[in-house]
Amino acid sequence: MAHTNHNLQDDIQKVLIDERTLQARLQALARQIEADYAGKEDVLLLCVLKGAFIFLADLSRALQIPHQLEFMAISSYGSGTTSSGAVQIMLDLKQDIAGRHVLVVEDIIDSGRTLQYMRRILTARSPATIKIVTLLNKPSRREVDVPVDYIGFDIPDEFVVGYGLDYAQLYRNLPYIAVLKPEVFAGSG
Ligand code: IMP
Ligand code: MG
Repeated sequence: MAHTNHNLQDDIQKVLIDERTLQARLQALARQIEADYAGKEDVLLLCVLKGAFIFLADLSRALQIPHQLEFMAISSYGSGTTSSGAVQIMLDLKQDIAGRHVLVVEDIIDSGRTLQYMRRILTARSPATIKIVTLLNKPSRREVDVPVDYIGFDIPDEFVVGYGLDYAQLYRNLPYIAVLKPEVFAGSG
């Protein structure tokens, strides 16, 4: 069903965070980050692909401080809705991050395993500072303790899509955060 040609809206059970609420929170996060990074040189926003790409695009445009952008692709999920636990680098950085102020931009923190892994490999590369901003956080799902510096929204333990987040690589283009109808998952793991 997910791949047949139909209106994506029909697959939505409910909108959890609407577009206006998302954008308002994003501006507030940007003001907080600007204040914390004021006067720092060499700020690097490091986007964790693919899920964080829309959040990165909006956050970067909201920030009134100079910063560079980099991308890494990490995978801990298959096409299902639960983490496999195994984290893998699909695309690594091309630039040296030694001495730079690295702000990792994530879409969502679930078990915390992806972020714990990122933190470990990035810390080994000697950045000046490393902080993490995530749009969404599922505190009830945490399996490992990992510090998170900026959180957009704490959400309940529900699988969500939209604003960059996918189910089976679809729904990333929705401008809000939503929960899918159960029948969308039918027939898949
Ligand atoms: P963690 O390693 O368990 O913290 O998983 C983090 C990654 O799992 C995120 O970067 C997402 O790609 C994916 N993920 C976790 N929860 C959801 C969800 O509700 N919707 C879509 N992707 C999710
Ligand atoms: Mg994903």
